[in-house]
Amino acid sequence: MNTSAELRAAMVDGLTGDDAVTDPGWDRAARTVPRELFVGAYFLPEQGSGPTGYRVVREGEPGWLEGVYTNQTLITQLDGRTRPEEVAGGAVTGVPSSSSTLPSLVLRMWHQLGAEPGHRVLEIGTGTGYSTALGAHRLGDDHVTSVEYDPVVGRAAAAAIRAAGHSPRLVIGDGLLGDPDGGGYDRLIATCSVRHVPYPWLHQVEPGGKILVTLSGWSFGYGFALLTVTGPGEATGRFLPGHTSFMTARPHDRPPRQSITLLPGDERPTRIDPGTIATWTGSWVAQLAAPSAERMGAGGQQILVDVATGSQARTAPGPDGDGGWTVVQRGPLRLWDRVESAVEEWQSAGGPHQEGFGITVSPTGQRVWIGTEDGPGWDLPI
Ligand SMILES: C[S@@+](CC[C@H](N)C(=O)[O-])C[C@H]1O[C@@H](n2cnc3c(N)ncnc32)[C@H](O)[C@@H]1O
Repeated sequence: MNTSAELRAAMVDGLTGDDAVTDPGWDRAARTVPRELFVGAYFLPEQGSGPTGYRVVREGEPGWLEGVYTNQTLITQLDGRTRPEEVAGGAVTGVPSSSSTLPSLVLRMWHQLGAEPGHRVLEIGTGTGYSTALGAHRLGDDHVTSVEYDPVVGRAAAAAIRAAGHSPRLVIGDGLLGDPDGGGYDRLIATCSVRHVPYPWLHQVEPGGKILVTLSGWSFGYGFALLTVTGPGEATGRFLPGHTSFMTARPHDRPPRQSITLLPGDERPTRIDPGTIATWTGSWVAQLAAPSAERMGAGGQQILVDVATGSQARTAPGPDGDGGWTVVQRGPLRLWDRVESAVEEWQSAGGPHQEGFGITVSPTGQRVWIGTEDGPGWDLPI
């Protein structure tokens, strides 16, 4: 059987191509910090189950350590309460609420952040503490502060980070409010996603400093952005290549709701193929256009329900059997009208991936645009 150090080295050696760790300092951190200290037990998704089921992999059982050193995300909490240690036997269902992120992504993010020795870094979303420990290894304990919302998760992370020999500053609280003790940061890295960039971050990162964050919403759209702070409450940035998503910061989650009843409304043919908004960038554009809506459905049969007003839109194959689609809309917000226009604007701009988008944040608003600041754009909900 391979030892932890051998498996760790093999995992880092296996990160090639876009995943390759090119910075010697981050490479050393990845080869040194033992990930198993942070994921005593974890959930793995079961293949092919309807609502995703998860099976528990427990510390010490066959395959546990190999799983720790596979380049995969390891889920460590479901529904904001269930930890793998507490599950007896079989598979469980639930929504992931904490995890140890894919190691290649963690390392890439530290690199993209441009965090270097001497920088003061604020991390939002300690999770298991693995990324925090990598940061502390590379930048020094006294240069890293990490904030975790969930006290149970935060306490487990603190113990694991200590066991790994590090002592960065750890805070349990709402990271969307920043560091309760104030700012002066050079870099901020978020490993949970947000519906808009929290203003406290834009006051706690110094002008010229960077913020790396995933923007999300309730329609499964994600945009991974690197912003430069230009002044208190101000920043500009571009979205990065790839397909990065993170669980939503808890205060930005969709509010709980009853089950949805679809009701009759006004029907018309659609101008766009509804399946467009089920694609990676299409869902992002739809979410920008209808930021308080949640999206359900699959392929061409899309359902949008606005959380704020209850307005609905749903698409269905048209009556002529010619491949066309109709939409039924109801309520004060014409959700489909907005989404359809936005998709058409995006398509007229060449239909770029998120990396063709940028963001401008000012004290009075936050706008995501295509191409350049004066291109087509949408305001984020703040
Ligand atoms: C993907 S996990 C973090 C992964 C972590 N960096 C690691 O490598 O183990 C996201 C974490 O963000 C935390 N979180 C969610 N909302 C938060 C908030 N408002 N402030 C701080 N942490 C938050 C979740 O509880 C969860 O532990």
